[in-house]
Amino acid sequence: MTENTSTRAPVDPESTAALAANGLELTLLDTSPANTANTANTASTANTAMLRRWILAESRGFHEPEPSDERLAGQAAEIAGDRVTAVWDQTAADPQTPVATIRSWVMGLTVPGGAALPAWAISSVTVSPTHRRRGVARALLGGELRAAAREGLAMAMLTVSEATIYARYGFGPAVHQADYVIDSTRAVWTGPVPAGRVQFVSPESLLVDGRALFERTRTLSPGEVDRRPNVWAHRLGLNPRHPGASTQDLRAVRFDDAAGVPQGFALYTVAITGNSFPARLTLTDLVAATDDASAALWRFLLEMDLVTEINAPQRSVSEPVAWQIADRRAVRKVDESDHLWLRILDVPAALAARSYAAADDFVLDVTDDLGFAAGRFAFSTTTTTSTTTTTTDAAGRAHPLPATTGSAPETRDTAEPADPAEPAGPAAPAALALTVADLGSLYLGGASATELVRAGRVRELTPGAAARLDAVMRTELPPYLSTGF
Ligand SMILES: CC(C)(COP(=O)(O)OP(=O)(O)OC[C@H]1O[C@@H](n2cnc3c(N)ncnc32)[C@H](O)[C@@H]1OP(=O)(O)O)[C@@H](O)C(=O)NCCC(=O)NCCS
Repeated sequence: MTENTSTRAPVDPESTAALAANGLELTLLDTSPANTANTANTASTANTAMLRRWILAESRGFHEPEPSDERLAGQAAEIAGDRVTAVWDQTAADPQTPVATIRSWVMGLTVPGGAALPAWAISSVTVSPTHRRRGVARALLGGELRAAAREGLAMAMLTVSEATIYARYGFGPAVHQADYVIDSTRAVWTGPVPAGRVQFVSPESLLVDGRALFERTRTLSPGEVDRRPNVWAHRLGLNPRHPGASTQDLRAVRFDDAAGVPQGFALYTVAITGNSFPARLTLTDLVAATDDASAALWRFLLEMDLVTEINAPQRSVSEPVAWQIADRRAVRKVDESDHLWLRILDVPAALAARSYAAADDFVLDVTDDLGFAAGRFAFSTTTTTSTTTTTTDAAGRAHPLPATTGSAPETRDTAEPADPAEPAGPAAPAALALTVADLGSLYLGGASATELVRAGRVRELTPGAAARLDAVMRTELPPYLSTGF
């Protein structure tokens, strides 16, 4: 798990000043475990009471029911150690309840090549309907990004309630998710039947086995993030946020390969649709370290007696299951939407963190309204191993170029004719002009530069540059994130 350095970041002076100009006050709350342990107790310390009001404000912001004291305690435990910020209006009828909330922490983001890049995760962004559209969210988001940059992080990230809010802060949609509905009566299995066995296990056992499996698989999946303890507890029906909730309808199965080594697990519930069968199965988690594990678990689910429909929400946009059944039209992708949004704060550091699929050289002219990542960057994925050979530089390198007076980089089609002595063709750097949000969308290989050029978002300053960038950024699997936050 990535070290969480977010809490040591002090309150942001620029945000404090912007909110003060609006008559509002910004504070950071103490979320140390000692303080969050007894949040349900209203008679405890002033900060504990504030934290309780913060949770109530956040729930109200997302139109959730007011949490019971028991649930409040669970939620307080979940956010222990996070950077929790509140905005107060002392002139309001209820000055004890924040008028805006935001929360952040640092966690690992899997990038192509398998490394976990520490990234600033942002959540709980709410502004009271009584204080909306006065720039409160802008002040809070700016403060988070400045704090992340001060901590030296190359990336911020969030999953969003609406796709219209965050591009203005430089976030681009980088990972997409799909919901599937499968008519299992038509989905006769034609895929591989791997050696090994699927067996029922207790959800609790996956706190150990499941975690280990997840850690093995996440390196294969760009876009995946750390699964925090509360995510496991929620997935496995052990969440203190919902004390007393029945876990009896949650089933857990594990696939062990022929050697008896656990290689995957699935969690699901089955609900009878009406007074009698048939039933509908909802897949709530499936983690597979191998293709065999994926095939074995999908086959197990599709062949479940008394079940005629499988709902599989929040899965990869490219689940292989349609290729493994007799009637591929039995699988319907009923929704596909943006999931993880990335905000690059440091272009060279972000580009150096991932690996690449091809060797090439680029000049990227990046614009950023908030200034963090703006500039011209020479970006290279090549290593010269001899005078004639280049190979992929798995680390990738990017460095800022000297500032130019114009916004567009000097490139083959805008600059003086090339010196005939200079290398031509693929050896010449390809140039593209793009926003930091679009670079965030391209970063994990989940968007195509060619498509963004066609959409009029990215400018291709060297003909063919977009296709070259796509060849370099391409990943074996499309990015996938199995959780929201
Ligand atoms: C989304 C929300 C946080 C915005 O707060 P706010 O303080 O009203 O936002 P601001 O006044 O700072 O607005 C900043 C910009 O975002 C725009 N904006 C704000 N909310 C928006 C929305 N829901 N959709 C599209 N644009 C939005 C504003 O028009 C403004 O645009 P501009 O800078 O181009 O003028 C608030 O409406 C809210 O709490 N919504 C419910 C909870 C939610 O959805 N949170 C987001 C979770 S990911």
